[in-house]
Amino acid sequence: MCGIVGAVANRDVVPILIDGLKRLEYRGYDSAGTAVINGAGVIHRARKPGKVKELEAEAEKIKLHGNIGIAHTRWATHGKPTQSNAHPHICRDKVAVVHNGIIENHEELREQQKKQGYEFTSETDTEVIVHQIFHHMDQGEDILEAVKSAVKELEGAYALGVISIDDRDRLITARRGSPLVLGIADHEYFIASDVAALIPVTKKFIFLEEGDIADIKTDGFTIYDMDGNRVERKIHESKLNADAVELGKYSHYMLKEIYEQPLAITETLEGRISNGKVLEAAFGPEAAGIFDKVQGVHIIACGTSYHAGMVGRYWLESIANIPCSVEVASEFRYRKPVVRKNQLIVTLSQSGETADTIAGLLEAKRLGFGSSLAICNVPESSLVRESDLVLMTRAGPEIGVASTKAFTTQLVAMMLLVLVLGRRHGMTDETERNIVTELEQLPRKIENALLLDDVIKQLSVYFADKHNALFLGRGANYPIAMEGALKLKEISYIHAEAYAAGELKHGPLALIDATIPVVAVAPNNELLEKLKSNLQEVSARGGRLFVFADTSVDVKGGEDAHILHVDSIHDSVAPIVFSIPLQLLAYHVALIKGTDIDKPRNLAKSVTVE
Ligand code: F6R
Repeated sequence: MCGIVGAVANRDVVPILIDGLKRLEYRGYDSAGTAVINGAGVIHRARKPGKVKELEAEAEKIKLHGNIGIAHTRWATHGKPTQSNAHPHICRDKVAVVHNGIIENHEELREQQKKQGYEFTSETDTEVIVHQIFHHMDQGEDILEAVKSAVKELEGAYALGVISIDDRDRLITARRGSPLVLGIADHEYFIASDVAALIPVTKKFIFLEEGDIADIKTDGFTIYDMDGNRVERKIHESKLNADAVELGKYSHYMLKEIYEQPLAITETLEGRISNGKVLEAAFGPEAAGIFDKVQGVHIIACGTSYHAGMVGRYWLESIANIPCSVEVASEFRYRKPVVRKNQLIVTLSQSGETADTIAGLLEAKRLGFGSSLAICNVPESSLVRESDLVLMTRAGPEIGVASTKAFTTQLVAMMLLVLVLGRRHGMTDETERNIVTELEQLPRKIENALLLDDVIKQLSVYFADKHNALFLGRGANYPIAMEGALKLKEISYIHAEAYAAGELKHGPLALIDATIPVVAVAPNNELLEKLKSNLQEVSARGGRLFVFADTSVDVKGGEDAHILHVDSIHDSVAPIVFSIPLQLLAYHVALIKGTDIDKPRNLAKSVTVE
């Protein structure tokens, strides 16, 4: 989604704003803009469709400089990605605003403002905000009061940065429903949609809370809560370092993040398993009491995180012996589900800011679910703050839009949950011990899976000129096939679908011919023989097979088949390891196709709008 940055300092803030935008570019990237109050006390603005580097060039060209400014990278929701729709929006040369979120009553406000004589220069929902703030300033309110009044009239979600020539050293920020952090340094302050944007300038952050408004100057800041009371918010020290969001030797963040998986998983397990057991305290001091009551689990999530949830369902029922359902959050939130007593709602999310998942959680609470657990990668995100229990995935910042390390660490976290719930529902100590041992070996198994990189690179040539691909799996590896298909389609733009292999003969088999590559995951488990028959059905019809199989498995798929072996792994953790070759396959196909791998078209990293 959109990202915002703002700064007030005793130096030129334009380089800080531009660098911040680059670091936020993964959230949305169809246009970008920035505005400062320059030495002459005038709002000076640069806006450009396309990437932040185009904006950077424009800012240099027009000599944009100032000690206070706001900036924005946009992912279009209302209005096309044109220069006039790019933020900041300005009203009568006096107020400038950047906004992340969606204003739901913008049409109504627009009509009202048109009658009041305001002129609109964009098709965005944001422009009503800047007019509304101006309107209140015009009636005698200062910039802080005007923002306070204006946000009361807004319906929907917003994170705002506001500057005005009437108060040249004052940056006002407000948030409701969209994330916003306040960065603190020595007589300079910053705002941004996330911490990663500001890491080069500060490590100290305040995570503004729902409804907060902050009044920021070089000599300090004041925060007001949603009722207008002055409040103190805790200052957090971030452990992120600037390198964590640098590319280093890799050509793409996605590749870097694929290779970071052994380390990410080690971090996810760190301090959470010991002597063959999962340490329940990892879920927080109240976890044991909550888990004792849980009789069923409902998982909600979106996209890749939803696939992790689907694997979780297989595990929760087969290992932990606990009923589990899973669904996409955008459906759950409007479905009016029946709530069973003592059901735990589990949300899975990399960002913790996905609008549908947050809304799903709030709906679950309203419906009376027992308790909630968030499995999430971003500390202090909205989802984390709204949940009773939290298990952080500790994958580190994930910049590539296509989720990789966040997914596999979600699976690891999910397995920890399975084990703590399982021991309350008849799972033996031995099962727990065995799975914990498998988890401990995962980083090494993943290192081995990464060794397939070169072979996969060679195979990817076969996919690059195809229009369709089919992915097959069974059991807990069916969601892995779904995830493989999602990765391929989102970064290579090749249409890819996944099927539970047993479902093939009920329709999709009709598609099989030599033009459709069929990718299958074949761990050594009790479904193997059935999967092999499904693969025979494909090769008998001229389909070309690409099978990722456990080393101990002998798969025959016809002369044209490619069988790639993955280090022998226990069935329980196989979905985690089999994810790796599918990520690499998508990456190499996209590389050949020359797509924008880290920022695929039309997509955003964190979907903070509905
Ligand atoms: C795909 C992908 C998306 C996200 C989805 C949910 O590679 O990254 O499908 O998984 O938008 O995002 P989070 O996990 O942040 O809630």
